[in-house]
Amino acid sequence: MSAHFLGLGITHYPLLAVTDEHMADLLRWTLGDPGIPDAEKDPANWPELMRTEWADDGGTAAAAGHRKHLLEDLARTRAKLDEFQPDVVLVWGDDQYENFREEVVPPFCVLAYGETEVDPFTLMSNRGAPNAWGLPEDATFTLHGDEDGARLLTNSLLEDGFDVAYSYQKRENGHFPHAIANTQLFLDYDNAGREFPYKILPITVNCYGQHAIARRGGLARFADIHDERLDPVGPSPKRCFQLGGAVARAFAGTDRRVALVASSSWSHAFLNDKDWHLRPDTPADQVLYDSFTRGDWDVWTSTTGKQVVDAGQHEMLNWFCLAGAMHELGLPLNWSDFVVTDVFNSNKCFAIFEGQAA
Ligand SMILES: [Fe+2]
Repeated sequence: MSAHFLGLGITHYPLLAVTDEHMADLLRWTLGDPGIPDAEKDPANWPELMRTEWADDGGTAAAAGHRKHLLEDLARTRAKLDEFQPDVVLVWGDDQYENFREEVVPPFCVLAYGETEVDPFTLMSNRGAPNAWGLPEDATFTLHGDEDGARLLTNSLLEDGFDVAYSYQKRENGHFPHAIANTQLFLDYDNAGREFPYKILPITVNCYGQHAIARRGGLARFADIHDERLDPVGPSPKRCFQLGGAVARAFAGTDRRVALVASSSWSHAFLNDKDWHLRPDTPADQVLYDSFTRGDWDVWTSTTGKQVVDAGQHEMLNWFCLAGAMHELGLPLNWSDFVVTDVFNSNKCFAIFEGQAA
């Protein structure tokens, strides 16, 4: 028996699911924050990339280019997935005050769900942004879970000394974690997620840590975060890296074909306090991307949770899980792309790891 692995990294950027006119809505919302100095909001003082993207149409023309770039990279990762023919697609994604709220916030949770109806559009339509497909805003698709695989995985992780939580039922009336839902939506963009043939096995990562409850999913005005009551931190980057390794080991003794997917953008403008939530922390992302392409995981495992939070890279913890798995398996990076933007909230990264495990 021997398992086969493929590693992928993608984005679950919610605004890719809305029309071009609305793709810069998060920045528009931020510009309405009275707690941000006027000079910071003045495009005359913005970096060149930001001014160019914003232009005189609030980013609409640039949105078309951003979408095209992201869709090309998504098509490439989807093609690789089809070529690989996975038995299961394991996804590390954050829970953004969706499934897990005040009752309990697990650092890591395996979602052992079966067939699940997911409504991918209401998250953004509730904020006034229509979906890019022109579908009814309450349209749904079925996410094929892997109940049995999830139980076996959880069991293996626990026996390996990794104390993960598990869940058999999603929160009632809650929004299904968009990190997971959008992974299916974007990997099956042409069909708005409705014809994705593979099973998805999600592991949620508490990426939002000290902001999980405090900011209820991340968006906050400066006036409100002035004296915010922080939550306990999320799992450390190093621990996420270790989880990735444990997940790889858990499958290694099976005969399954497993695609391991990190689902998230890199630094987020709305989490980057030091730049007034206006743009992502591109220099910090660049440092991690450079070592990522070199396979220099020491830079990643020595990154602290504080550094991640200071850069607004909270959601990158999903990528730390992927990195740990790739390290464990010795799977080489075959291709990657780093997509930089100043007005579309987050930098995005795409990656494919494949080949002979070392
Ligand atoms: Fe997210």
